[in-house]
Amino acid sequence: MRLATYFPALVASALAVEPFWNEPDTGLETFLRSTNWTENSLPALKEMRAIPDFDFAARHFLEDQKYSFYRTAAAGEWSYRNNLEVWSKVKFRMRMLSDVTKVNETMATTILGYNFSAPIFIAPAARGGYGDPERAEINFMEAAASENILYTTALYASKTIEELGAAKSNNTLNGPQVTFQQIYTNANFSVTWDAIARAEKTGAKAIIWTIDAPAGSTRHRAARYDTTNSNSVTSALTWDIYDQMKNRTSLPIIPKGITTVEDALIAIEKGVPAIYISNHGARQLDHSPSPLEIAYEIHRNAPDVFSKVDVLADSGVRYGTDVLKLLALGVKAVGMGRPFMYANCYGLAGVEKAIQIMKTEISHDAAQAGIHDIQKIPSSVLNMRALEDGVFIMEKPGQY
Ligand SMILES: Cc1cc2nc3c(=O)[nH]c(=O)nc-3n(C[C@H](O)[C@H](O)[C@H](O)COP(=O)(O)O)c2cc1C
Ligand SMILES: *[C@@H]1O[C@H](CO)[C@@H](O)[C@H](O)[C@H]1NC(C)=O
Ligand SMILES: *[C@@H]1O[C@H](CO)[C@@H](O)[C@H](O)[C@H]1NC(C)=O
Ligand SMILES: *[C@@H]1O[C@H](CO)[C@@H](O)[C@H](O)[C@H]1NC(C)=O
Ligand SMILES: *[C@@H]1O[C@H](CO)[C@@H](O)[C@H](O)[C@H]1NC(C)=O
Ligand SMILES: *[C@@H]1O[C@H](CO)[C@@H](O)[C@H](O)[C@H]1NC(C)=O
Ligand SMILES: *[C@@H]1O[C@H](CO)[C@@H](O)[C@H](O)[C@H]1NC(C)=O
Repeated sequence: MRLATYFPALVASALAVEPFWNEPDTGLETFLRSTNWTENSLPALKEMRAIPDFDFAARHFLEDQKYSFYRTAAAGEWSYRNNLEVWSKVKFRMRMLSDVTKVNETMATTILGYNFSAPIFIAPAARGGYGDPERAEINFMEAAASENILYTTALYASKTIEELGAAKSNNTLNGPQVTFQQIYTNANFSVTWDAIARAEKTGAKAIIWTIDAPAGSTRHRAARYDTTNSNSVTSALTWDIYDQMKNRTSLPIIPKGITTVEDALIAIEKGVPAIYISNHGARQLDHSPSPLEIAYEIHRNAPDVFSKVDVLADSGVRYGTDVLKLLALGVKAVGMGRPFMYANCYGLAGVEKAIQIMKTEISHDAAQAGIHDIQKIPSSVLNMRALEDGVFIMEKPGQY
């Protein structure tokens, strides 16, 4: 039996704390009782109505070890829960009676100048083969092409850089499919240079350099199954490596795992074309901030960051409203990790459906919020007073 709550409801009410739901109750389980669904099988794809439904589906369908690798987060998973719950701190200030008939025409965006149909992308995540052993990340590549969104391939994907390169479409909004390649900095640098060279050869258009893995991470849920990180990454992570990387490739390099305004500003000084704010789905350090809190810190201290470079963000995004909140702060495009890994249990159709659910929600929610241009959402559409409580303010702007 797979429980969806981690606090028994009675204990929770006695302590007057709310139980944490692994995913919000979307009515899926109740509905499935009236169907022929059996525990430990995959519900029909048509029953997937919300992004969190894919977590329920994967949890019941996958072997515990595989689900645990996808689901795990650092330590007490306080950041994991914060990533999901923090969105409710920010309320919409919808302006009514503002004609929103053209909102759909404003869904398309650019990332580093490339054209995409929506401001969402598939975040880099290892071991897509757990969801679909045969096709693994090929489904991400094909779904990204058919839905015209960005796929950022992971270095530790189940398929090789070359296998994924061969699966690219020739027929997208950009012509040949545009992908960005994620890399870690291996303790043996020649492994890193080799990965970059291979990515270049397959036509990747940018390198996403993961900077938030200077050590192993404390992940109890995964350690239980001995599903540890296979990364032999270096702890000697510094900006010097960026300079060395620049020497080795002409591709733009996007640091992934920016969580403070200071690091965002240093990255811009270094000349990066984009930054990627993320706490790695809360898998690295517990009590690391959510992307909403990071984006707000930058918005309060150095709002120019959002106009100087393209800002990508991920961690805990599950609803169209989550995307709109980040966009209103100036984020250019928003990624999801686990939802696509879970959706991959259904293969290509599942990944495509997850993308479609998000697009529909973004479009409907933008209209509901009185937003007529998804590319130019005023931050006044958000009431962020609750984020102000505890936000970091730089004492000497310009010195960091
Ligand atoms: C199973 C799994 C594997 C991941 N592997 C990588 C990886 O190899 N490199 C990386 O930069 N991030 C990795 N991530 C982090 C994702 O890129 C992304 O930051 C995170 O999943 C976003 O949070 P979300 O899962 O709540 O959407 C992984 C995440 C998951 C869930
Ligand atoms: C369950 O019902 C659906 C149609 O509602 C059918 O396609 C499917 O094959 C059934 N599955 C089982 C295991 O009987
Ligand atoms: C925009 O597109 C979505 C999804 O196709 C559709 O459901 C919605 O009604 C459209 N909204 C407007 C305002 O045209
Ligand atoms: C795309 O075009 C290249 C070069 O013509 C070709 O080798 C490749 O097979 C094509 N890919 C697909 C998915 O059709
Ligand atoms: C992106 O779209 C614009 C406008 O449609 C077009 O001019 C441009 O060539 C496209 N860019 C790429 C890389 O295809
Ligand atoms: C580093 O990696 C390269 C390429 O894989 C390999 O040839 C070399 O032996 C490695 N060096 C060390 C010290 O492990
Ligand atoms: C970049 O390459 C040049 C020429 O090979 C070299 O002199 C320089 O030290 C390199 N810089 C870094 C940071 O590796």
